Amino acid sequence: MSKKFYITSPIFYPNGELHIGHAYTMVVCDIFARYHRLMEEDTYFLTGADENSAKIEKTAAARGVGVGPFLDDMTDQFKKLFADIGASYDQFIRTSDQKVHWPGAQAVWKRLVDVGDIYKSAYKGLYCPDCEAFYTEKDLVDGNCPFHHKPPQVIEEENYFFKLSKYTERIKKAIETGELEVMPVSRKNEILAQLGRGLDDVSFSRPAKTLGRGIPVPGDDSQIIYVWCDALVNYISALGYGTGNDELFKKFWPADVHVLGKDILRFHAAIWPGMLLSAGLPLPKRILVHGLIMSGGKKMSKSIGNTIDPKVLLDEYGKDAFRYYVARHIPLFDDGEMTMDIFKESYNAGLANGVGNLTNRIMKMAEMNLAEPVAIPKKSIPQNFKDAFESFDLNKAADIIWTEIGAMDLFIQENQPFKLIKEDKEKAIEIIKGLVVRLYTVGRMLNPILPETSDKIKAVVKKNKMPTEALFLRK
Ligand code: ME8
Ligand code: MG
Repeated sequence: MSKKFYITSPIFYPNGELHIGHAYTMVVCDIFARYHRLMEEDTYFLTGADENSAKIEKTAAARGVGVGPFLDDMTDQFKKLFADIGASYDQFIRTSDQKVHWPGAQAVWKRLVDVGDIYKSAYKGLYCPDCEAFYTEKDLVDGNCPFHHKPPQVIEEENYFFKLSKYTERIKKAIETGELEVMPVSRKNEILAQLGRGLDDVSFSRPAKTLGRGIPVPGDDSQIIYVWCDALVNYISALGYGTGNDELFKKFWPADVHVLGKDILRFHAAIWPGMLLSAGLPLPKRILVHGLIMSGGKKMSKSIGNTIDPKVLLDEYGKDAFRYYVARHIPLFDDGEMTMDIFKESYNAGLANGVGNLTNRIMKMAEMNLAEPVAIPKKSIPQNFKDAFESFDLNKAADIIWTEIGAMDLFIQENQPFKLIKEDKEKAIEIIKGLVVRLYTVGRMLNPILPETSDKIKAVVKKNKMPTEALFLRK
């Protein structure tokens, strides 16, 4: 049986349109998913929408529509964007889905109850409605939510709690030993420092009358399973956990990698492993925490209002241009700027004058001088490219491709096969054939990053024809 690879994106809040930051996460996941499919692994890529949030009701009401139609409309828009960026996900989970998601969330809840990790207690807490999370005094920065820089609400109610504190040491050990790998090391250290200070128990339910929609607590309809306990379970409920039809779960869990932004690191590297340990389920193998897309020096975000609409960019440049920018110009583990100016510059340099121009030059020589298509070796992807991807070094994998493109440009310049053809036809033909084989390998390597361009390159090589139109028009 072939190796399996299970990758997840965060499930996104449908309380507003997705922006370039969300598109970034999806493209990162998609590139990894496509790489593992290229390696013929049995790959499963999950994404979805986090729908049981109190904010949704307010947003739907503000737009004058019912919650149901509002959510349908928003998730349709998510899917449209994901198609526009070429995201090849296998499943889109919606946490409002009572058949797919709710049984899993309730099954996890029952396991936590069975081992005695859920208890009821009066709660007085500091709540940030924008994060949909409770904080303790020590989490706050100058009395404010560390992310939204606003004072939290003080909330008093009866809730069920999860004994997260009990698992602090085991989570810490799992992360220290690499049983649960947190990438990059700076994020691993950040979460270890938090674990070192100790974890508090967390509120896992809220009164139905304040939260409204959501998954009822098994055995107590007056309470709703609280946002993070609900949302994190999507990674296993999607695979059928808790439904009795759990073949996908048996095959794909534990996840090979959860991909997410640093804003939700704590939930994934502390609460989620705590839940899994309590439920007696295996931990994910890896959590990959990418940086954030910045705009004008600030995190691109709806609440800040500095977003770039992905539609504008995708209409003008196409999906592969966006994917190129993600792979080549945004350091995976650091924050990266995105402005239309840098975007255009990178497009012209790497795509129009880079891979586009190279493909044209080589295939023009091939079409004019070769009698038939060049025979392509069965496998030709270089080991260093695979090594880069196996260690999730997306930027390095992309650099390897563009280094090869640069080397081929230089080689053509130095050998001038289009001139040599008049003096030494045989030698020139050998050179052109060699270039075509190298171009095909570039096409193969481009598959995860620029899927459309990859297909186009492989097609023109197989037909021994110049592209009928330039792969990328100069802007
Ligand atoms: O947090 N740059 O959903 P969300 C890069 N529903 N990535 C960004 C970004 C930016 N400027 N802004 C957002 C939630 N993201 C929860 C998750 S998971 C069980 C539940 C990406 O809609 C990044 O991956 O706020 C971040 O973690 C995610 O979108 C948050 O999306
Ligand atoms: Mg958010």
